[in-house]
Amino acid sequence: MKGVKEEIERVLISAEEIAQRVRALGEKISRDYGKGGVARDPYRRPLLVVGILKGAMPFLADLIRVIDLPLEYDLMSVSSYRNGTSPGEVRILKDLDRSIAQRDILIVEDIVDTGTTLDHILRLIQARSPASIRICTLIDKPARREVQVPMHYVGFTLPEDVFVVGYGLDYAELYRNLPFIGVLKREIYEEEGIADR
Ligand code: IMP
Repeated sequence: MKGVKEEIERVLISAEEIAQRVRALGEKISRDYGKGGVARDPYRRPLLVVGILKGAMPFLADLIRVIDLPLEYDLMSVSSYRNGTSPGEVRILKDLDRSIAQRDILIVEDIVDTGTTLDHILRLIQARSPASIRICTLIDKPARREVQVPMHYVGFTLPEDVFVVGYGLDYAELYRNLPFIGVLKREIYEEEGIADR
């Protein structure tokens, strides 16, 4: 059987580069939320990190371990409009376990492309009256942005419109386990139409 790595055209961001950047993000988040900072919870409860499944899972796992603050994390899963849901609605597949009213929320996403998914998630979260919301995304792909969304912490900005996989990012649910972020070989996905976007 062919190895997964043989299906990758090129490595865009190595495991070492990811680790370095995640550490820097963790330090910045720790500084920002430490002592006064951006936290607004009137009861001073710990930062609540909200990871968006499934793509953000490896990023979330690494990021929370380099944030030097008391924190809780919770997970949310929404159906992407790409999987058949029409734009304008996302369905909650797994909701947060507890109320987030008056909590400080840091949303952790894998990738922001058109911005549609994050915009919907933001509306869902905002409707529950948190004390503050900040957004951390591993990858920002501004080339195809359709909806403006605030982004406070960005791991990597991709200057061109490429489809990337690895470190949580998938194509048809595969490649999430790659330790690096890479570009798929064209022959893997061109029949599905992504190459012609
Ligand atoms: P958006 O709503 O267009 O911002 O897209 C968000 C979702 O599309 C992400 O959470 C991913 O699931 C998927 N996506 C967009 N670009 C890529 C990519 O380059 N690789 C893998 N998934 C992607």
